[in-house]
Amino acid sequence: MTLLVRLDHETDLAGFRREARALLARRVAPEQVHWSAGRCHDDLFAVAEPADDQPPADTGVNVPPAFLELCHTLVLHREPHRFALLYRLLWRLLHEPNLRHDPLDADMVQARHMAQAVRRDIHKMHAFVRFRQVQDTDNPLDPLHVAWFEPDHHIVEANAPWFRRRFANMRWAILTPERCVEWDRQQLHFRAGADHSDAPPADAGEQLWLTYYQGIFNPARLKLKMMQKEMPRKYWRNLPEASLIGELAARAQERSGTMIEQPATVPLRRIPAAPRRLPAVAASGSLPQLHAATDRCRDCPIGALATQAVPGEGPLYPALMFVGEQPGDQEDLRGRPFVGPAGQLFERALAQAGLDRQAVFVSNAVRHFKYELRGKRRIHKTPTQHEADACRHWLEEEIALVQPRALVALGATAARALLGRPMAVMSERGQWFARGDGLRVLVTVHPSALLRLPPEQLPAAFERFAGELTLAAVPDR
Ligand code: URA
Repeated sequence: MTLLVRLDHETDLAGFRREARALLARRVAPEQVHWSAGRCHDDLFAVAEPADDQPPADTGVNVPPAFLELCHTLVLHREPHRFALLYRLLWRLLHEPNLRHDPLDADMVQARHMAQAVRRDIHKMHAFVRFRQVQDTDNPLDPLHVAWFEPDHHIVEANAPWFRRRFANMRWAILTPERCVEWDRQQLHFRAGADHSDAPPADAGEQLWLTYYQGIFNPARLKLKMMQKEMPRKYWRNLPEASLIGELAARAQERSGTMIEQPATVPLRRIPAAPRRLPAVAASGSLPQLHAATDRCRDCPIGALATQAVPGEGPLYPALMFVGEQPGDQEDLRGRPFVGPAGQLFERALAQAGLDRQAVFVSNAVRHFKYELRGKRRIHKTPTQHEADACRHWLEEEIALVQPRALVALGATAARALLGRPMAVMSERGQWFARGDGLRVLVTVHPSALLRLPPEQLPAAFERFAGELTLAAVPDR
């Protein structure tokens, strides 16, 4: 018998938690529940009454904080099966305690991907909402600003506080097909969805923005592929500047040619001297000394934002030293490398390759966590080449102290730091390269790249990654 649970609205997290608690107390298994939200759908298979043949169990549901955060994001996804997935995960977390440590679990992978899609949608809304001014005849000195946006997921309510903070002093409304939100400088008001024709046409302010956009468009830095990735085509129709891109891109080559032919201009300001490097520890120092010096390092801006420098860890003189990119959120907080989700995946691949994490040295090319704040979340940002270069001497000093027999580069940042040249990791992975000092470096992908793959590609990608680590494991490399 299937139990129908209907939540009040599409993002009814409170309702989900209430119902899930009650279902768990009755020990109702996930496959016995059919979840729906919002409008009533006819359901041929559902019955309205709970199956009450089990005595209630303890309802004290204790889940990791990361799971609660996942719930908050996942309920915003458009997929109708999101509540079923969440309930299944909740059920499994209670019945399979090891689930939380399994980075390859299919349900977990799917949930992570869905949460990532929601976060991307939220980010795109921040980036691509364009307000147009509408004159209010009752209040000509206080115009309303209206934007049209088409989100992929149910993100309007969750995203509204960000716009309220960002545009606190102006009256605005964001119209979307499913939900609209308005800010009157006192309160947010939510209404039913609108039609594109309700959004205002271009205004005079927009002409100004287009002129500015034309002015700042740098033809020499045009990267069309990157632009399309960051600004997918589906957003173009609502972006005033999108109408200019075609023509500006077409003229980019000619304009950059003209720029190159111009005589060099004299810089108006003196270029500041490079920041003074902190005294490096000589290779004869110890790892704790090296770590203390790294912790103080401010050769690039990342150090000042991170909680602490994360040193490499493992035994001296190991057969292998693995080098990643930079610590992530959890590594930054705990001060240890590879202890977050990518670290769990890495450890599993090591085990599959017959390697013991305790027997190898694990480190990073960059010592501090670089991130960008989105709400309360610290989102990983790839270090620039300049930042990775500034950190390179710490890595080299660590290698000199640890004296591994061989190195493994996890991803492009590590490969470049270890080999001193840009590496095309996808085509050069699984191969050994020699360094000037005679040490050999096996290049492979970074485990976090696997975590970004669609769930159906993960098992094969994991096998390939673990297979490459096996190359490092063989003694006669
Ligand atoms: N990714 C890395 O490159 N290093 C870590 O320590 C964690 C994640």
